[in-house]
Amino acid sequence: MPSLAPELLQRLLTAAQQARSHSHAPYSGYAVGAAVLDEHGNVHAGCNVENAAYPQGWCAEATALGVMVMAGGRQVKAVLVAGPGPEVITPCGGCRQKLREFGADELPVFAADHSGVRQSWTLGELLPASFGPDHLK
Ligand code: THU
Repeated sequence: MPSLAPELLQRLLTAAQQARSHSHAPYSGYAVGAAVLDEHGNVHAGCNVENAAYPQGWCAEATALGVMVMAGGRQVKAVLVAGPGPEVITPCGGCRQKLREFGADELPVFAADHSGVRQSWTLGELLPASFGPDHLK
């Protein structure tokens, strides 16, 4: 079970829940927000953006990572994903791989809903034996 300083966790939670309020999810009705903490201590957030041509939609994590990259961040130190509950949200397979680009096995991943943080894992637990940037060196 990974941990994070309470102040940082609260920043991620607030940012993800705020991002979630911007979600464009008219098809699933499943609003998601995500927030990532970068190597500079900055938090970047995003929501899911669905599309009438369903496969063209994308996840909240993807938005947050794009925002981070645009701001100059290249390492994810922690990530929090906020869903609607009651079932604990967990990053989809594609997002686990997207996170792997910027974070190692130890990366803490937190799942939250309106009631706060519900569960956490390391990225290594969610995506074992992963393929990552080192494979291409
Ligand atoms: N979704 C995310 O944004 N992140 C996740 O980790 C899981 C799923 C979105 C994709 C889609 O817009 C909606 O949730 C239902 O799958």
